[in-house]
Parts: sequence; structure tokens; C-alpha cells
Amino acid sequence: MASLVLQPQLLAGAGWGDYALIDSGHGRKLEAYGPHRFIRPEGQALWQPRLADWAADGEFVPGADEDGGGRWVFSRPVPQGGWPLAWNEVRFTAQCTPFRHLGFFPDMAPVWDWMGAMLAGREDATTLNLFGYTGVGTLALSGHGPVTHVDASKKSVAQARANAALSGMEDRPIRWLVDDAAKFAAREVRRGKRYDGIILDPPKFGRGPEGEVWRLEEHLPALVADCRRLLDANSRFLFLTVYAVRMSSLALAGLLDEAFAGLPGQIEHGDLAVREAGDSARLLPTAIFARWSNPE
Ligand SMILES: C[S@@+](CC[C@H](N)C(=O)[O-])C[C@H]1O[C@@H](n2cnc3c(N)ncnc32)[C@H](O)[C@@H]1O
Repeated sequence: MASLVLQPQLLAGAGWGDYALIDSGHGRKLEAYGPHRFIRPEGQALWQPRLADWAADGEFVPGADEDGGGRWVFSRPVPQGGWPLAWNEVRFTAQCTPFRHLGFFPDMAPVWDWMGAMLAGREDATTLNLFGYTGVGTLALSGHGPVTHVDASKKSVAQARANAALSGMEDRPIRWLVDDAAKFAAREVRRGKRYDGIILDPPKFGRGPEGEVWRLEEHLPALVADCRRLLDANSRFLFLTVYAVRMSSLALAGLLDEAFAGLPGQIEHGDLAVREAGDSARLLPTAIFARWSNPE
């Protein structure tokens, strides 16, 4: 049934009006988020920076331990309450967060594009966004039909709803849920629910709203199995992205190959990357992915 494409794929985004990867190197990256430029740690930028001018509004200085801690150091005023950006018709607030993020994940843009293309022409497509964070992906999907947005963080879901209002999309059929992703998916299976598409972007480690522990290596197989039960031969896709773990995309493909054996379509895997701006063709890898797709 579902055929496995062993050749790794590359899904690279080149930035857009409101986001650009300007340069990278020596374990750091320089990015533009609308009018503001920031320097952030980037362990995969093993090469030399290309540009001499790395002037920035702020830099995230990492703490002692690899995964956490650290702080922003600003050299020019940056609105602490955030500033508006856009991706296609979606508007959202960018903000320097304590976790070195800027309130959304720009490297997901080619994933949002791909999902839109997979749903093109389908009326009222129902989708599920697990670990949906501030909802840019959810708002992009909401142009195709009802979306269920699940994230454990009340603050992130509130920001996602604020982004919907900023985009004039507050009346779209979106269920905003503060919940544990694994618990929610298992409940949906028991309810006999079905979706046209599912995207999941789990962290390496996380906690549900009632302290439920999420450890990727331990809990991902069961979650993928439940997501499979929420899809059928008429569904279009499942897109899984994983970052900050010692794992190959081939391992994710193996998991999907097992889970989707009974469905038509194909399974692909590979790297998610961002292309540097300008005439540099340099690619900065950001995550790995595997996806099941079932063309019309
Ligand atoms: C990398 S972010 C997802 C980014 C999102 N895909 C995007 O493009 O904006 C991971 C998210 O997982 C959420 N999270 C962590 N543990 C969770 C859990 N057990 N259940 C649901 N969400 C969880 C976090 O609150 C965070 O928003």
C-alpha cells in the first residue's frame, strides 16, 4: 500500500517579505524579522559567516546549559510587546521570547505551502494541528476548512487567537484547545473522529496542561499510531517535523511506513532548511521531517 520513498527530500524555504536569513556561521545566525535584525545561536552553522556587517537590534546570549536559559541583549529599541508581521494573508505578532524564539517558526513556511497545495480544491477540509504554538500554521490551514488547534500552553493558544483577530480570521471555524496532544489524539480516536490532514511538530520534551510528560523518543510512536487512526484512504496528508534530537529522518520514515502500511499514498522524509537571502545558495538545516501524502 503506501510506498516508501527512501531518497531523502529537501524542503527549503527562501524567506519572504517579513522574514530573511541574512547570514550564518560560527554557530550563530543573523535574521531579519520585519524591521528588526537578530542574532541567535545556531549549532548547525559550522561554516564561516559571509558578511562583515552583523549589526543587529538584539542578540540571544545562551545560558550555560545547551537546552535552556539565556537572555536577550538589545543594542537598539525593540517593542517588548511585539510587532506585526505577515505570511501570505496571515498576520501575527513577532516577539522576543525567553526561549530564544520570535513567536513563530519561519522555517515552517514551506510546510504551510505544501499543506495548502495538498488541500487545494478540497471543500471544507478538516485538519488537526498538534503542538500548534501561536497558530500561524493553523490560520494558513483555516483557508481550506475547519481546523483543530491543540497546544499545552494557555499563553500560546491565547496568542494564536490574538493572531486570528489580527488576521481578521476570528470568525473562521477553528477549535482552539489547551490540551495534551497525546491525550487529545487518543480521545479523538475513541470518538471515531476523522481528519483530511494532520500536522504535528512536537518538541523533544514538553509538558501537558496537567503536567503530562512528553518525551519524543518514548511517546511519538503511540501518537503517530493514533494520528493514523484519525485518517483514512480519503485523507490527504500527515506531516511530522522534529527538531533538536539526535535522530535521522529515515527513523521517522520507518515509523510512518509501519503506521501507514494499510493506506494508499506515499511516505517521504528529509530535511527542512532555510536558504540564505541574496545570491548565496547556502542552506541552513533546521529540522527533519517525514510525511504521508495521498494525492487526489
Ligand atoms: C516547536 S513548538 C511548535 C511550533 C508550531 N508547529 C509552529 O509552527 O508554530 C512546540 C509546542 O509544543 C507545545 N507542547 C509541549 N508539550 C506539549 C504537550 N504535551 N501537548 C501539547 N502541546 C505541547 C509547546 O507549548 C509548544 O508550543
